[in-house]
Amino acid sequence: MNGRDLVRAVTEIGTARGRRAWRSAWRHRRTDAEGLARRGAERARVPGLLTGTEPRPGGGVLRFARSELLVRVTAGGAVFWGWDGAGPTPSYAVVGTGPEPDPRAVLEPDTGGGWRVVSERVTVAVSRHGQVEVRTPGGVVLRRERPPRWWEQVRPAPQGRAPVGARWLLRSEVQADARFFGLGGRASGPRLRDGVYRLWNTDPRGGFGPGDDPLYVTMPVQLVVADAGTHLAFYDDTWDGRVTLREGEEGAGSGPDRSGVSELRMDGGPLRCWVLVGTPARVLQGWSGLTGAAAVPPEWALGYQHARWGFGSAVEVRRVVDGYVSRGIALAAVHLDIDHYDGHRVFTVDRERFPDLPGLAKELRALPGGGVRLVSIVDPAVRVEPGEGVYGSGSAVGDAGAFVRDGRGREVRGEVWPGTCGYPDFTDPAVREWWGALYEERLANGFAGIWHDMNEPVSFAPLGDMTLPRSARHALEGAGGDHRAAHNVYALAMARAGYEGLVRLRPGERPFLFSRSGWAGMQRYGGTWSGDVETSWPGLRASLALVLGLGLCGVPYSGPDVGGFGGSPSPELYLRWLQLGSYLPLFRTHSAIWAGRREPWEFGAEVEGHARAALAERERLRPYFVTLAHLARRTGAPYVRPLWWGSPEERGLRDCEDAFLLGDALLVAPVLECGADRRAVRLPRGRWYDTVTETAYEGPGQVLLDAPLGRIPVLARAGAVIPVRAEDGSVGLEAWAPARGRTGGGLVVRDAGPGFEPGTVERYASRWAVGAPGVPGTPEADAVVVVEREGGAVVEGVRVRGV
Ligand code: NOJ
Repeated sequence: MNGRDLVRAVTEIGTARGRRAWRSAWRHRRTDAEGLARRGAERARVPGLLTGTEPRPGGGVLRFARSELLVRVTAGGAVFWGWDGAGPTPSYAVVGTGPEPDPRAVLEPDTGGGWRVVSERVTVAVSRHGQVEVRTPGGVVLRRERPPRWWEQVRPAPQGRAPVGARWLLRSEVQADARFFGLGGRASGPRLRDGVYRLWNTDPRGGFGPGDDPLYVTMPVQLVVADAGTHLAFYDDTWDGRVTLREGEEGAGSGPDRSGVSELRMDGGPLRCWVLVGTPARVLQGWSGLTGAAAVPPEWALGYQHARWGFGSAVEVRRVVDGYVSRGIALAAVHLDIDHYDGHRVFTVDRERFPDLPGLAKELRALPGGGVRLVSIVDPAVRVEPGEGVYGSGSAVGDAGAFVRDGRGREVRGEVWPGTCGYPDFTDPAVREWWGALYEERLANGFAGIWHDMNEPVSFAPLGDMTLPRSARHALEGAGGDHRAAHNVYALAMARAGYEGLVRLRPGERPFLFSRSGWAGMQRYGGTWSGDVETSWPGLRASLALVLGLGLCGVPYSGPDVGGFGGSPSPELYLRWLQLGSYLPLFRTHSAIWAGRREPWEFGAEVEGHARAALAERERLRPYFVTLAHLARRTGAPYVRPLWWGSPEERGLRDCEDAFLLGDALLVAPVLECGADRRAVRLPRGRWYDTVTETAYEGPGQVLLDAPLGRIPVLARAGAVIPVRAEDGSVGLEAWAPARGRTGGGLVVRDAGPGFEPGTVERYASRWAVGAPGVPGTPEADAVVVVEREGGAVVEGVRVRGV
């Protein structure tokens, strides 16, 4: 608790909502006091010595004096191990029953009395004390896990109270040069420096900057990049926990290296882990195979979107849309926040201020240039109104109704925007089905997309944790359990309910869904956004960190509130944010009801002109974003990638956090500092062209580039072939000259329509040819760049740049 929270808590006593929040927090405390056993004397346990082994497909079971370990290498190369009888399922992250065991991988004796499983890409070795090592085929240890330690309660829990979880601790060592990334969305990233990172999805109370942790999406997923190789480690445990990271140090001179360390302390839940090894691209491909391919957003959701809490009325929505239309600025969607609800109640409409929402949706949809879609916020908490509305229908689900109850069977109530609320238990399949059907009302009102909010889940509390009591009961897919296990997957399960509901209602259309909170696997249902990032230069930097970090955890579609959530950005800050946002997957401006305006024309003529240029470039690149969206689904590669993506061995790139690759072709270097009009840009290996001046630069190295207010440096990789949209709406190709004597290429995936058709991948190659095609004998000096479609046909009309 910090001073800011304390001040807020005290001032809130003066408001009716504040008083209700105090009462609700008090009730939650009491619920937990009655429902949870207190932590008492504990007994520590380690596995002890190896006593025997038993082969199993892909590996085997190793028995220790006080635990057992299942090791399994799977056909795709992913490695699983679980202690104390934990297997890969049930899991909220892993799809189906997980990949099949690798039939060629067998358990065999290792040196020193240990055992190992050798596969093509990785060797897992277990010592006779229960230390687990992940080694490369060459024998280099990428990750060494010390034998785990558990703490169990000496005395059983009193009758009627949920037992204290068996805490566990796992200390892992990585190479001295390794860098850590991931753990979900972290404002201080993307490189995760020494510190403690909590695993508990949290609303940071109205705004956050780089110093705030945790945030809305936490995940026990670590991507570790080292000279010896890249690996991803996923601890499939949904409970609350803390990860302490310490980067290693390489020994000076002949001194010894100090390993990097990750120490994971969990409050309970299974101790099980997946590890994937390979290049970053291979690792993310394996991760998407394990946890599910990312949903492809509809084509329009890759365009620019405008949201605001506090549009207030249909009149205001029309006014803002007219502002864009009259200025000829492309706008794909407008998002309506809770103020369009009747009394803030989910799945309702304020008919006075929005008298004809379907009519408004139709009118906006018919606007020239593809129209403007409406997107609706959906909050999980349902106002308690016995026998009425959503609450009434939820109460009729199954025998006990849809809402979360405590250990004594009483509904758990919380405090959110509409007042006192119940919380659907999305971990119950019947509840998901009921909830999914409710989106019919949204579709009937003309909404084309859904924005899930407040689903950590939030219950306002002046102090402490703003969520449900930990003893609250959840179905957990029939296994039963409490909020300690369900909290982190609440939003994931809500996303599943919404996504599956939308698919049932409109089977021919890919849903557009993004969610504030989530967990490993959330990409199956849609994306996420930054949440309430503070309006400040550090907030701008944090918003890039989040997108990069989430992408490395398998969530490719996200973006910040352009301009920040809560304040009034200076024209410069607004413009720099818009310029960054225009290269991120979810490109949306949004702000709080108390915040300043975000329309591009509200910041003066100069900023408006520059904003138009950024927005026009986004439109031009829209086909490239479509390609990246489809490739993310097929390959697991995020659209937005750290500079080291293709060359993790280039150490300098691992520490570069202020630039990113957009797909294979572009390198984007946003301006993240006030007053800057040029900036240093680190280049990966190869030739790069400034896309405005077409000047060529050679990497690896660092260059100083102009970044006047009107633009941020964007570079294109030599040889790249990119799909772009022409003024008339058609899709053409743009190619950047390969270096002499070299070749290049690119992939294009065209959207086959609003449905689930995967689209075909077109492969293009670029090369230098002497003379124009069909004009043999032209001198070397007249050499031209040609682009060929896979199979040989030269493509006409390609715009070649950088020659
Ligand atoms: C919190 C969300 O993060 C924000 O985007 C939204 O505007 C408010 N809730 C109000 O719904």
